[in-house]
Amino acid sequence: MSKFTKLLKSKVVKEGIKQAQKHALPVIKKELEKKKRQCEKIMEQSRYAHYVSTVLFQKRNRRMKVLNHHRDLELYGMGRSAAVFKLKNENRVIKIFYSPFEETAKEEKQNYEKLNGDDYYPVIYEAGKNYLVMDFIEGKTFFECLAEGIPLDPYYMEEVDRGLQYAEKAGLNPSDIHLHNLILTKKGNVHIIDVARFSQEKKCTQWNDLKWAYTRYYQHAYFPKKIPRWVMYTVSKLYRLYRYIYN
Ligand SMILES: Nc1ncnc2c1ncn2[C@@H]1O[C@H](COP(=O)(O)OP(=O)(O)O)[C@@H](O)[C@H]1O
Ligand SMILES: [Mg+2]
Repeated sequence: MSKFTKLLKSKVVKEGIKQAQKHALPVIKKELEKKKRQCEKIMEQSRYAHYVSTVLFQKRNRRMKVLNHHRDLELYGMGRSAAVFKLKNENRVIKIFYSPFEETAKEEKQNYEKLNGDDYYPVIYEAGKNYLVMDFIEGKTFFECLAEGIPLDPYYMEEVDRGLQYAEKAGLNPSDIHLHNLILTKKGNVHIIDVARFSQEKKCTQWNDLKWAYTRYYQHAYFPKKIPRWVMYTVSKLYRLYRYIYN
């Protein structure tokens, strides 16, 4: 047996190899897992970015229309600044902002970061120049609840208050709180979405005005609990006109 083989077989060297394996293996394993996670994130990022690139908007008669989108996406909701798509095999949505609302996308992302995944708000998973990927909140907006006659208990209004207080504590200025931006889940949880305007400086009275109408009219025993959509749209238009004139 050569001197080298003897050395390899010696107890000291064997123990040395054992120790090195014991300490080095977990470190290598951890590094590999980190790299794997990084790769997965990059792949996921390009996947969401790819979905976004398949969406085509067109403005017709001052309204946005979706002309095309990937088959893994399902158009779920449309607002004034963005269209929201549900991902077919995931519990997430992609909110894609129309041009020129890229700045709104940035503001909304920053505001969600300040809210830090609080239970009242969706968690954000990825943000691009004109899109946000966030939790899908399954439920009905307060607007849909009123349209379908689903009762809005005072508890839900208090929950919105609590969610907004949390945002204030996080240094934000809750604004643009209206019926389309409040979601009630089947389990009776309330969530707030669309926080882009939470960083504006101007005081917004919309939520207080809504609460006033809720106490003054909705809670009245004879007030109908199911309100036609056209009535709500008309009231909302008149309200916006009133604010435009008096603010
Ligand atoms: N995370 C979400 N989960 C479920 N529905 C959502 C979510 N985000 C938006 N929506 C739906 O899409 C609509 C438009 O989204 P919103 O963020 O309010 O757009 P905008 O900023 O243009 O007003 C909402 O009224 C709601 O019905
Ligand atoms: Mg909205």
